[in-house]
Amino acid sequence: MRTKIVAGNWKMNKNLQESHNLTLDILSKLNANSATRVIIAPTFTNLHAVANQTKNTKVEVAAQNLHQADNGAFTGEISADMIKSVGVNIVILGHSERRAYFGETDELLTQKVNAALTNDLEIIFCFGEELKDRKSGKHFEVVENQLKNGIFHIEAAAWKSVVLAYEPVWAIGTGETASPEQAQEMHDFIRKTINRKYGKSVADSVSILYGGSVKPDNAKEIFSKPDVDGGLIGGASLKADDFLAIVDAV
Ligand code: PGA
Repeated sequence: MRTKIVAGNWKMNKNLQESHNLTLDILSKLNANSATRVIIAPTFTNLHAVANQTKNTKVEVAAQNLHQADNGAFTGEISADMIKSVGVNIVILGHSERRAYFGETDELLTQKVNAALTNDLEIIFCFGEELKDRKSGKHFEVVENQLKNGIFHIEAAAWKSVVLAYEPVWAIGTGETASPEQAQEMHDFIRKTINRKYGKSVADSVSILYGGSVKPDNAKEIFSKPDVDGGLIGGASLKADDFLAIVDAV
């Protein structure tokens, strides 16, 4: 059976003290027996503290980005090795906000994927179509190209370190969610696309998360779909009660 995962992407929210408090709240209320993997992604400045705070707990910590180089003259950037060195083993790559506001291309993402894998970081790889793509009926084509051009260069064995997150851009932070049927249809398409390139055992074992305005009141219905293996949560991950209600919905 595929692993169920709920990951909270805190984006550029929560200072050090606030991150500490939110983590504490999550740790104190989390059902430690749940089989679902629970991941939180604070901003870079808080990674070390949150990684220490969650050590030996059920909660795992992810970074929101990395720079593709090992080190060097890249002012303001953070490498995979630096992320590893503060006790973090997961990184989110390709988020639509990185693609839209920071010019991240598929080509650049292949390099970031390589840097993560070389440094033994697990990847939550995000992709998804824009509203104009869906309106013009190109959403399957766009998603297939994002996969082919961004991550299909890796070897089959590397997929054990990859989680996919399908996030239609029109549903992120907008309150507009893909219907459970739309999510299932796309997740099924994604799995078939992986199957064609890598075969059934890879396709059946990769967890595919849905992201985009998942809330406590719509999570259960979306997660009930057979190819939806959990969620990547933005806004609703900033309150422990909402986040944990979504974890419980899996
Ligand atoms: P949202 O964000 O839940 O606030 O829509 C999801 C994401 O960007 O990962």
